[in-house]
Amino acid sequence: MPIENTLSIIKPDATKRNITGLINAKIEKAGLKIVAQKRIMLSKELAEKFYSVHKDRPFFNDLVNFMISGPVIVQVLRGENAVSLNRSIMGATNPTDAEEGTIRSEFAQSVEANSVHGSDSLENALKEISFFFAEIDILI
Ligand code: CMP
Repeated sequence: MPIENTLSIIKPDATKRNITGLINAKIEKAGLKIVAQKRIMLSKELAEKFYSVHKDRPFFNDLVNFMISGPVIVQVLRGENAVSLNRSIMGATNPTDAEEGTIRSEFAQSVEANSVHGSDSLENALKEISFFFAEIDILI
């Protein structure tokens, strides 16, 4: 199976509730390695740019305002099939649809405050990782 890197974001609802360690434990238990990680405050401009694919969606402004409402942890996860593995341990976007045992089923509060973001394809993972990290930041 291919070794991949994927981008993960632990969102403000989780940093505010001090549950980032619980989320990281689930990531590591699934066999993914956190090879880069930083706690940052997104600016409005950066959040708008990161989520620009959703700019025409009705929830765009609320999404951006939520993502700048507190610190986030951006991280690079590495492992076999990291993109799809991380999506499966995250669970569905809406926590009411998320499978039992997933991060969103256990921790998310709503479709907006859904605790984590994860790249949805290898192509987007490469783009999203380079949005936040330089090669030199990623330590395998
Ligand atoms: P994420 O994986 O970060 O990608 C886009 C985000 O938009 C998504 O998670 C949700 O948190 C957020 N969002 C807010 N409202 C909606 C909605 N109605 N449908 C889908 N995503 C939404």
